[in-house]
Amino acid sequence: MSTQDNNNSADGAPDTEISYSDAIDYWTTVPATVDGVLGGFGHTSLPRTDVRGSLQFIRSVRRKVLAFDALAGDAAVVKRGCDVGAGIGRVTRDVLTQVCDKVDLVEPVIPFADQIAVELAHAGAAEKLGDVHRVGMQDFFPAKNSYMLVWCQWCLGQLKDTDLVAFLVRCSEALVEGGLIFVKENNTSTDEDEFDSTDSSVTRSDSSFRSIFHMAGLELLVTEIQHGLPAGLYPVRSYALRPYSYHTS
Ligand SMILES: C[S@@+](CC[C@H](N)C(=O)[O-])C[C@H]1O[C@@H](n2cnc3c(N)ncnc32)[C@H](O)[C@@H]1O
Repeated sequence: MSTQDNNNSADGAPDTEISYSDAIDYWTTVPATVDGVLGGFGHTSLPRTDVRGSLQFIRSVRRKVLAFDALAGDAAVVKRGCDVGAGIGRVTRDVLTQVCDKVDLVEPVIPFADQIAVELAHAGAAEKLGDVHRVGMQDFFPAKNSYMLVWCQWCLGQLKDTDLVAFLVRCSEALVEGGLIFVKENNTSTDEDEFDSTDSSVTRSDSSFRSIFHMAGLELLVTEIQHGLPAGLYPVRSYALRPYSYHTS
């Protein structure tokens, strides 16, 4: 997870600097722990604040988006979620198991992917574990009409812009009617995107995200800043999105 201290801008569009293999090499050296996936902030207030904020954001989205609320509250359907760039399954363990019946996860780093079942078993949520896809988002082709929600947190910066647009289009096709894509990511404090050579990722501005969502045919329904995070981190923003085609289908 990038902090404001380790960005390293270069000439040209920052996302052209991304190397998918360099990213995997970096993350493979990181311990398969909460502290590892949170860039050394695992023992601060960050994990608890993040989880509380995400649950609060989902409640706020349910109040504002009635079709999603109806879907999330429907006891008759199996509510399937997808956690992408899932790391060791921290978000699934602490957030998604509270709103989904089953969660599939996408995580290309093998030690992280191996740890997911362990984390869910420790949390007493093993029965909620769906499929663990050990691929990068750029190579993930979800089945259509599958998910109540797709959750993308602190991972979309690993994708180049064109791959990110294509990935979000595939995710929107994977939603069931009324389903949403949730994005929770760092924003730069300026209007510029910044390349981070540590994990070969890009931190995007809020306006870059909005333009990418638009290109992917996604309507931004609700967005909020995460408050209460430790100093030194980028601003963190949550977005709830649905395909524009939802209105015409
Ligand atoms: C900062 S961690 C966040 C993990 C998790 N989302 C969380 O919030 O706990 C970034 C994650 O993105 C994963 N990642 C890196 N490149 C990826 C790619 N191309 N596709 C999917 N995930 C990727 C890393 O292995 C790592 O698990």
